[in-house]
Amino acid sequence: MRRPFIAGNWKMNLNRAEAVALAEGLKQAAAAVDYADIAVCPSFVYIDAVAQALKGSNVGVGAQDCYFEGNGAFTGEVSVEMLKDIGCTYVILGHSERRHIIGESSELTNKKLKAVLAAGLIPILCIGEMLEQREAGATDDVNAEQFFGSLAGLTSDDMKKVVIAYEPVWAIGTGKVATPEQAQEVHAKVRQLIEFRFGKDVADAVRIQYGGSMKPGNAAELLAQADIDGGLIGGAALKVDSFMGIIEAAKTTEL
Ligand code: 13P
Repeated sequence: MRRPFIAGNWKMNLNRAEAVALAEGLKQAAAAVDYADIAVCPSFVYIDAVAQALKGSNVGVGAQDCYFEGNGAFTGEVSVEMLKDIGCTYVILGHSERRHIIGESSELTNKKLKAVLAAGLIPILCIGEMLEQREAGATDDVNAEQFFGSLAGLTSDDMKKVVIAYEPVWAIGTGKVATPEQAQEVHAKVRQLIEFRFGKDVADAVRIQYGGSMKPGNAAELLAQADIDGGLIGGAALKVDSFMGIIEAAKTTEL
């Protein structure tokens, strides 16, 4: 069985004091959680402080992006080595806000993903369709393009280390959550893509998180679906209580 994985994407929110206070609150609140992996992904500038605050806890730390080159002349970018140096275990890649606001391609995401794997960190690869794409019946094509493009050139051993987050863009930050059936349908198709490309063992092992307005009130139903193995949480990850509510919902589900 796949172990649930609940990760908080703090996006461009919080200041230093708020980020550290949230980390300290989580450290305490999540101390007894032994049934799920937990991580938080602060803004680059607070990763160090948050990682210090979470030392010795069962809450891992991740970044929201990285650059694919090693250290060098890349003004404004952050290398995977730097992220590792300050205590990151995970790196979110290909988030829809990077794809659609910053204009990142699956090709660039693929380069970053390979750099993250080469450094021994765990990529959380986001894929997901926009509302007009869903309405045009293009959901499967969009997710397949992002899947194959972002994971090009990976071996099956590489793929076993990857976490996928299915995040329908129309459900992110909108309060409009995918129904458990809608989410499960896409998750099952993504698992078929993994099987087609990397084989059944890998498909059975890879965790697929759902992201998009997941809250304590809807988490249990989503997490109870056969192919939903966790969540990538935005808004509800910014408060200890709501993030813990989602983590606790993972306890009661057979994943
Ligand atoms: P919300 O939970 O705020 O919808 O954000 C989801 C998300 O984008 C996580 O990466």
